[in-house]
This record gives sequence, structure tokens and C-alpha cells, in this order.
Amino acid sequence: MTAGRVSVNGEVVTELGSKVDPLVDEVAVDGKVVHLSDGPVTIMLHKPAGVITTMKAQSDKPIVANLVPTDEYPGLYPIGRLDADTTGLLLFSTNGELGNALLHPSQHVSKTYLARVKKPLSDEAAQQLRAGLELNDGPTQPADVSFADKQRKLVRITIHEGRYHQVKRMFEAVGDPVVSLHRESFGPLKLGDLKPGKWRILSDDEVAALAQGGRGEGHGETRQP
Ligand code: URA
Repeated sequence: MTAGRVSVNGEVVTELGSKVDPLVDEVAVDGKVVHLSDGPVTIMLHKPAGVITTMKAQSDKPIVANLVPTDEYPGLYPIGRLDADTTGLLLFSTNGELGNALLHPSQHVSKTYLARVKKPLSDEAAQQLRAGLELNDGPTQPADVSFADKQRKLVRITIHEGRYHQVKRMFEAVGDPVVSLHRESFGPLKLGDLKPGKWRILSDDEVAALAQGGRGEGHGETRQP
């Protein structure tokens, strides 16, 4: 503080022992807003294509850590992952317990994807996807599958588990590989009109619905990166 690095509501404060109201005052260190007594924060990001789901760069490829507000909320961590070429809804939270609970196989959180496939999906293949099929790490659970375009090359699929490359492997197994993949929803949360690369903080209702294992819907405050 004495170095003039702390400001309250835009005014530099150097006096030790100065008081703030964390619910009203905006405190910044080196110009960056900090959240003094906020509870855990959970956000959704619209992950663009070509961005790797990691918080630590291992190459010069773009990573999700650079798209979410880690300065404001240092403990943010992705809940699960999307492949680099997959777009759509990716959750982050500072609440590790929430993340672990949502990823636990016993939770069966539903995730809905729009998959563009190489050739029109046959009824038989759709039926196999619905019923469950054998992958090299075991059988898949029943999935919801519907056609999202007349050509049957855009398929909406909801799975209730989350194994490595699961959707791509399922389509591969029925002989119709995925050309592009987009996650529309995670449990009760929908991506909605959040634009690629943008994030927003989830409302308390949305976090509660998530924690309940996928019931209910809510709308959080929209924020720009
Ligand atoms: N399934 C996949 O194959 N890839 C993803 O990114 C998500 C689900």
C-alpha cells in the first residue's frame, strides 16, 4: 500500500489500516481489480476452435487460460476439457470440489454436442449410438441422438458420461467420423448466444442447479473478457 499500488474506487490509498466495504468498494492492485471476500466463482467460456484446454502453456499454441479472467480470479480451473478443435461451452471454477463432483462418473452430468459428420448418418448408426456401443475402454451408456439438418450430417447427441474423445470415438465406431464438434450445453447450462472467446459469470441459481446434478436453468451476468 505504501508504494501506492493499491487503489480504492480509482483513488490511490497509501495509508495502512484504511477501511473498505468489500460489497461496495472496488479495490485494485497495480490497476487490477481484486475480489476481497467473494466466494467461489464459476464461469462459462465459449471456447473457440484451435485453443487448448490447459492453464499452462506448453507451446506457443493458444490456451484457454488466456481467455478467462485469471488475474481477477486466480484459482480458476477448467471443469473437464474440450479437444483443441472442439468449440463451445467450457466451465471453469475456483471451487475445486464443485469441479470434482461434476466430473465424477457417478454424477452422469449430461452434455449435448452438435456433431458435423462426414456423410449422412444412417438410421442404423443413429440407433447404435442411442443404444450404446463398444469402445476400447468399455461400452457407452445410452445416448440421445437426433438429426439437426435435413442432410443428416448435423447430429445432436447428448451423452451422460465424459470419457476421453468420447463423442468422436462413438461416431468413428459407427463408421461416420466427426468433422467438427460443438458443445451446446453442460448439465442445466446452455451456451446460448455467448460469442466465441467470451465468458460470463454464472449466477448463484445456475451454480446451485449445476451442483444439484443438472436440474433447473438460470441466467448469469454477461461479462466481456
Ligand atoms: N468428445 C470428444 O470427442 N471431444 C470433445 O472435445 C468433447 C467430447
